[in-house]
Amino acid sequence: MLPTSVHRLAVVACHGGSASNPAHADGPRRACLAGLEVIARHQGALEAVIAATRTLEDDDRFNAGTGSNLRLDGTTIQMDASCMTSLGAFGAVAAIERVQNPVVVAQGVLETPHVLLVGDGATAFARRRGVPDYDPTTAAARARFGQLLAVGGPLGEWSRTALQRAWNFDRPLRDVLGSDTVGSVAWDGHTFASALSSGGTTAVLRGRVGDVPLPGCGLYAGPSGAVATTGDGEDIARSLLAYRTYLALEDGRRPDQAVAWALGELADSVDVGIIVVNHTGYAGGSRHGMAWHGQEAQAPA
Ligand code: GLY
Repeated sequence: MLPTSVHRLAVVACHGGSASNPAHADGPRRACLAGLEVIARHQGALEAVIAATRTLEDDDRFNAGTGSNLRLDGTTIQMDASCMTSLGAFGAVAAIERVQNPVVVAQGVLETPHVLLVGDGATAFARRRGVPDYDPTTAAARARFGQLLAVGGPLGEWSRTALQRAWNFDRPLRDVLGSDTVGSVAWDGHTFASALSSGGTTAVLRGRVGDVPLPGCGLYAGPSGAVATTGDGEDIARSLLAYRTYLALEDGRRPDQAVAWALGELADSVDVGIIVVNHTGYAGGSRHGMAWHGQEAQAPA
């Protein structure tokens, strides 16, 4: 049963990741338009968040797909992605390598009896589905890694939080560490869906997996709405942030109230951003700046 305030507008909201440059909101905007086009073609919320997230993966300004962070060896890229619908479908990949659009492979997993494929199994699954070999490394990601090496000594000896407190250069530490996961949420008038894709956080080991492919951690979708987070994956995963934000929507909080609740939930030192959509609208926000956008259009009859 839908609440009486339900409007029949389709909604897509997208973010370019916690600490992404808000001046790059044209990227999430383009992603929203790609998602709404899919909904206008009656392909539904799941296809919409896949199209939107794929658009962000192909935008090399963001840390997902092309432009993903390099791992600590300076060459390896391992990516996580996931998608979920309010009908209970979920699919994800973790630590997948050498594909252009991890979120498309996650959608492929959703069509199998499994919920999550990891590492070389995920990559082999992608090849089996005809996904070609692709190197997502960019010059900008290499440059970020070079900057990271410049602070690598301090990072090794300080906790990230302590280094952040003591940082005394003009250039913010966050610029050196880069931005996080991209994500999308959608409502097509009938169904909610969420999707995430990530090159992972900075300075992580081979095989490290964050919140993105874990249902209820990075993302959640249910009959009361959809949530897509971004930020420090370990903190987001430990706190089941997406599911608990969803419960706030289920309890009747407005999207902006649910976002405010989520942003206040984790320790001050944690990097976090979030977008949500419910039957009445959408909202988004982050602690440290984030390129994001939401857009509505008439839902198809
Ligand atoms: N939020 C993405 C990650 O921590 O990998």
